[in-house]
Amino acid sequence: PIEVELRRSGRTVQVPADSTVLAAVRAELPDLPYSCEQGFCGTCQQRVVEGEIDHRDELLDDAERTDSMLLCVSRARGGRLVLDL
Ligand code: FES
Repeated sequence: PIEVELRRSGRTVQVPADSTVLAAVRAELPDLPYSCEQGFCGTCQQRVVEGEIDHRDELLDDAERTDSMLLCVSRARGGRLVLDL
């Protein structure tokens, strides 16, 4: 499982191995924008303030990858991420 802290919201969610960061975050923030859920459209891109991202998309460029991720497909290497949400 991955632990995701939503820093501005003051909440933390758990992401089971069979689920996505997007699904877990949407449980707390239902209005969060998303569309394709397959790493193609970029709608779910969010800023990451802490943690090592396990990028699993082909869309973002290297600069974007340093501090943001696509919540629908990407995960965490260290088991924990902090999002600017
Ligand atoms: Fe389209 Fe995540 S919802 S890239």
